[in-house]
Amino acid sequence: MADKKAQLTIEGETWDFPIMEGSTGPDVVDIRKLYGQTGKFTFDPGYKSTASCESSLTYIDGNKGVLLHRGYPIGQLAEHSSFMEVSYLLLNGELPSADELYDFENTITRHTMLHEQLMTFYRGFRRDAHPMAIMCGVVGALSAFYHDSTDISDPEHRRISSHRLIAKMPTIAAMAYKYAVGQPFLYPDNSLSYTGNFLRMTFGVPAEEYEIHPAVEKAMDRIFILHADHEQNASTSTVRLAGSSGANPFACIAAGIACLWGPAHGGANEACLNMLHEIGTPDRIPHYIERAKDKNDPFRLMGFGHRVYKNYDPRATVMQKTVREVFDALGVNDPVFETALQLEEMALNDDYFKEKKLFPNVDFYSGAILSAIGFPTTMFTALFALARTVGWVAQWNEMISDPGQVIGRPRQLYTGPTQRDYVPLEKR
Ligand code: ACO
Repeated sequence: MADKKAQLTIEGETWDFPIMEGSTGPDVVDIRKLYGQTGKFTFDPGYKSTASCESSLTYIDGNKGVLLHRGYPIGQLAEHSSFMEVSYLLLNGELPSADELYDFENTITRHTMLHEQLMTFYRGFRRDAHPMAIMCGVVGALSAFYHDSTDISDPEHRRISSHRLIAKMPTIAAMAYKYAVGQPFLYPDNSLSYTGNFLRMTFGVPAEEYEIHPAVEKAMDRIFILHADHEQNASTSTVRLAGSSGANPFACIAAGIACLWGPAHGGANEACLNMLHEIGTPDRIPHYIERAKDKNDPFRLMGFGHRVYKNYDPRATVMQKTVREVFDALGVNDPVFETALQLEEMALNDDYFKEKKLFPNVDFYSGAILSAIGFPTTMFTALFALARTVGWVAQWNEMISDPGQVIGRPRQLYTGPTQRDYVPLEKR
């Protein structure tokens, strides 16, 4: 590593700080000794300029619209790979051989069932509970059922709990859906693919055979790939922070689900679909574009803009293609898609969006596909959580395996009262 240094001068005194280089992307200034040497903290709410960890999983170049998992571009993975293969890649660092993939799929398939006692746990929820509320509760509760895989210092325990989480998430999400619609839970079917099994558990009923539409299975699998990991986003950072204290993985993933639930993170695709319905027909698009540009109007074009991407979100490109495939396969002629296409074209040619580098993000088209497949909007974020579990688990494993790992503990700029004496109640 090159011996680069950054200098910081505070009130005439200068300190050197090492610069660390990654394999690609911006260098980072190593300020771990900043407080010890200078007595000062840095101030970076929202972590806009702070690398919270070292990671070799996922790389994003937001200016160029690049997203790589273990070096492989997301477009190539979405086109040629499967969610199981991408999961193996994220967990293990390399694409699997045919035998390795077979073994991995076999292992995941054999962990898809839930402890039978969890069925009664579901029945404690109201029928109108949001699926994310159920997912948070049930995933957190897994630690009460699988004691044999919660010793995080044991790599074998970590491996088993990782597999359990990835395998059980489709069952948990499908059961949350079934509970809401009042249909019986379906047990997993080990003869089906990861994604096919999820579709059957969600849309099948015990009264008849469920036929999996190949185009829907492929599209769903691709959507899972597109959501598998996304570097140190809010929910992933939440999982890492929760895990840094030594909490068990089921509790950590429940924390990640809670964070993902928020509308600024996992909830945007629902908002985007609602917006497209509100716009309704292409002739109304200019009015909404004007509203999005009006500083006095809180309206924003949902599915546009991203904290990191200042170019086309590469996942949106794949998603747009997938909408077409699903609509063609299912014979859907949803005017919402036409509206979305025209809205995208008009926004991309508008100076406001060009200057601010606002491009469609992954959420712009995903709602249209999910709703064509038959999911209610409340399930959208639950599907995101299902797919992101592999990323969370891989990032958590990476952190725990790092011998230099310490508890995450940010500092603050205190602006409250300084020390003062307690005033007895009668004197206040
Ligand atoms: N419509 C209209 N104007 C926008 C939009 C939008 N969708 N997004 C950003 N802008 C404008 C802002 O008003 C701001 O203008 P200003 O500089 O004149 O004040 C400028 O672009 C920069 O916007 P910020 O909000 O500062 O950018 P930030 O990086 O903090 O926000 C965010 C990114 C939250 C995603 C934002 O673009 C947004 O709200 N988009 C709509 C919601 C959405 O689609 N979220 C999904 C993100 S993808 C995901 O989480 C999976």
